[in-house]
Amino acid sequence: MRLIFQACSMIITLGNLVASQAQSSGLEDAIKTKIINFNNEKMQITWAARELFRNENVSFSYTFDEGKHKVWKPCPMYLLDQDYNFGCLFKTEGPTLAISIRNSNGSEELFSKKLKSDFYIKPNPPENVTFFWKEDTVIVSCNKPERAVKCLRLELQYKSTFDKEWQSRTSRCCHVGDQGFDSRKCYSFRVRLKRLVPHCNVVNYSSDWEAETFWKNGTLLDSCDDDRTSQSNTVIVLSCLLAVLLMMIILLILLCKRQRLQMSVMPAIPDPKYVFADLLNDHNGNFQAQAL
Ligand SMILES: *[C@@H]1O[C@H](CO)[C@@H](O)[C@H](O)[C@H]1NC(C)=O
Ligand SMILES: *[C@@H]1O[C@H](CO)[C@@H](O)[C@H](O)[C@H]1NC(C)=O
Ligand SMILES: *[C@@H]1O[C@H](CO)[C@@H](O)[C@H](O)[C@H]1NC(C)=O
Ligand SMILES: *[C@@H]1O[C@H](CO)[C@@H](O)[C@H](O)[C@H]1NC(C)=O
Ligand SMILES: *[C@@H]1O[C@H](CO)[C@@H](O)[C@H](O)[C@H]1NC(C)=O
Repeated sequence: MRLIFQACSMIITLGNLVASQAQSSGLEDAIKTKIINFNNEKMQITWAARELFRNENVSFSYTFDEGKHKVWKPCPMYLLDQDYNFGCLFKTEGPTLAISIRNSNGSEELFSKKLKSDFYIKPNPPENVTFFWKEDTVIVSCNKPERAVKCLRLELQYKSTFDKEWQSRTSRCCHVGDQGFDSRKCYSFRVRLKRLVPHCNVVNYSSDWEAETFWKNGTLLDSCDDDRTSQSNTVIVLSCLLAVLLMMIILLILLCKRQRLQMSVMPAIPDPKYVFADLLNDHNGNFQAQAL
């Protein structure tokens, strides 16, 4: 009974939690802001200008100051879409950020928000990526970023020329690996860094992919195109072989037919059984009589 009660109260708490989450994100979405903190160096904040502030240039200001004496800075660089602003770019200067969007002459505040800039970090792609091969196993490493390594995961994706979908492996920064690679196949590899959600980020941001590299049997290649052409070459060779085989079969069939034709034209060879039968009949089965 008590267990059931506990379970019920837990479900109710969970329900409340989900509801409150939905409510807060609903408020956030009222203006559909998108916040990205590029590698904790540069903030980009955009809003749904077309839907909300049609034909209006709003004024954006921000501050990283905490406490009472905040100094609000005007947006140093607006993002424009057909002559109207829809976003702002500025330097990341601290962990707490407050933003404010006002109408064009600044008389009315349309939106304001306080946030932790750290929760919106989009990392840079991994640097100095190295591949270490041993037989059918590869370990990929990159340089440890200077800060917040605990918040990062290194994601590796690969596919051979025969695959359509990427295979994915994720591991703590800054090593990730896998095994079972076929030494006859060429593989494309790519890596990126991911920020952990929800411990470090509230949004699910990964770095861009680092440039793809191509490997076959532990050797770095310029591309997997050779593999593809050699594949098509084998296809050509195989089709040629098949054609030759088919021709040989047809020839054999023709030969057989000719032989059967010859058989029907030439007189049949007498069956020895019948020859002996005649002999037996002629002499009433008495061989000795004939011998005498
Ligand atoms: C909106 O502001 C930008 C500069 O921030 C300016 O270049 C643009 O002409 C303005 N648009 C209008 C319609 O005033
Ligand atoms: C500012 O603009 C709004 C319309 O966007 C207008 O109603 C208001 O009177 C303006 N205020 C001043 C001081 O110009
Ligand atoms: C990473 O690679 C660059 C050149 O690509 C080099 O200048 C830099 O020293 C490397 N960093 C480390 C930590 O190895
Ligand atoms: C792969 O490389 C190893 C050593 O580098 C070699 O012994 C092996 O024959 C190679 N396999 C193929 C299929 O080329
Ligand atoms: C994060 O986004 C990726 C694709 O962009 C998705 O595959 C993954 O499931 C997401 N993770 C979370 C925790 O939302």
